[in-house]
Amino acid sequence: MIDKVLKTFGKTHYVSELDASMEGQSVTLTGWVHRKREHGGIIFVIVRDPTGVIQAAGHREQAPTAFEAMQQVTLESSIVVSGTIIIDKRAPTGIELKVTGFTVVNLADSEWPLEKDAGEAFLFDKRHLYLRSPSQTAIMQIKAGISRSAHQFFDGEGFTEIFPPVMVGASVEGGATLFPFKYFDKIAYLSQSAQLYEEAAICGLEKVYLLSPSFRAEKHRTRRHLTEYWHLESEILFGTHDDIMGVQERLVHAMISYVKEHYQYQLRLLKAKVRVPRLPFKRVTYDRAIEIAKKEGFKIPWGQDLGTEAERAVSNQFKEPFFITGYPTAARSFYHMPDPERPEITLSSDLIAPEGYGELTSGGQRIHDLDLLLRRIKDEKLDPSAYDWYLELRKFGLPPHSGFGMGLERFLVWLLKLEHIREACLFPRTPSRIQP
Ligand code: 4AD
Ligand code: MG
Repeated sequence: MIDKVLKTFGKTHYVSELDASMEGQSVTLTGWVHRKREHGGIIFVIVRDPTGVIQAAGHREQAPTAFEAMQQVTLESSIVVSGTIIIDKRAPTGIELKVTGFTVVNLADSEWPLEKDAGEAFLFDKRHLYLRSPSQTAIMQIKAGISRSAHQFFDGEGFTEIFPPVMVGASVEGGATLFPFKYFDKIAYLSQSAQLYEEAAICGLEKVYLLSPSFRAEKHRTRRHLTEYWHLESEILFGTHDDIMGVQERLVHAMISYVKEHYQYQLRLLKAKVRVPRLPFKRVTYDRAIEIAKKEGFKIPWGQDLGTEAERAVSNQFKEPFFITGYPTAARSFYHMPDPERPEITLSSDLIAPEGYGELTSGGQRIHDLDLLLRRIKDEKLDPSAYDWYLELRKFGLPPHSGFGMGLERFLVWLLKLEHIREACLFPRTPSRIQP
């Protein structure tokens, strides 16, 4: 196959396209010098491209010019390499490239800074270089896969994608975590969630979703908090809390199935074992979750948020994702619909990843009644005038509706069992990191 994009350098294949059935065939690859060693007068260069690595062997007698270029090349130089596929049982993939041509496109400095034992902080100071390593490439490929599978899923269920603003005038998830900035002579904020805009959009489009950055000025230095993350959100008109839990579990099922089907190489490389969960997911009430947390030694007065540690303890009791339902009204944002039979709790839930990974999504039914919403805005000591357009939706026939939001990086951390959420980001943003 000739790559449709990369014509100039004569690339014929990606590493992943090569196999033993191609013995004797000539191919040209473009990529990087991943490793290099000399043994018995032969130079071995491990060539890396986005799809894998292959060993290329250079012999002085058979290809003297290529051999010289291989002698001089340094780690992490970019190269074009041509050769013949030969079968070699000792090579990691069972095949090897017998080099016929080797061009150094840009010779790297001889001091590649990322030593094997480099610490995490250093690796992220050098994120621009670290990103090319096979593990990081695999994570970014899978991230693209979960985004693609989400788009396919929502498309298949008849949702319309929307493109909301990121610069906003009011909070969705409380003022404490807003990033303000100067907007001409006013103060504006970076969006925490596009939910309020979704609620307007569904009046025309009925079922919508989006994938957009969200921002949280949270000083938490945890393994699961970012100040900027990719937020997958969805909202449905005429949809109840039950309906939106259904959307979430089918989505998660579709995303995991897709990764399992399309990313076997990357999963093996990351040593990630992915299991497709059974549907439906378990529903556990907040009341029951508090009881479980109490048995684990946490003292949480009824009505308070579970908190990271208690939530982890509860999630350690489960092997598959599950919903915690019926969170107390006082612990939820102003827009959550109180349960008509028990107004001290809401028609809401969080989807919790098992084995200590914690919250993946938050969602639920929204208040569609104007007076009730006004009361909740005042209870929360928010300024109703900042929400006048949002309130006006209720004046003009807005029916019951529901939605949820999922942090893509949270999902990735759980799926791949990553040590820290920063590994799920191209260039992570945390309280202590805005560079590179
Ligand atoms: O639970 P949150 O704050 O809910 C909302 O923003 C709703 N308005 C969403 C909606 O209903 N449309 O955020 C939703 C999700 C969380 O469950 C979590 O996955 C992720 O966003 N999230 C974060 N991810 C990384 N770092 C942070 N600081 C995050 N805060 C929330
Ligand atoms: Mg939440």
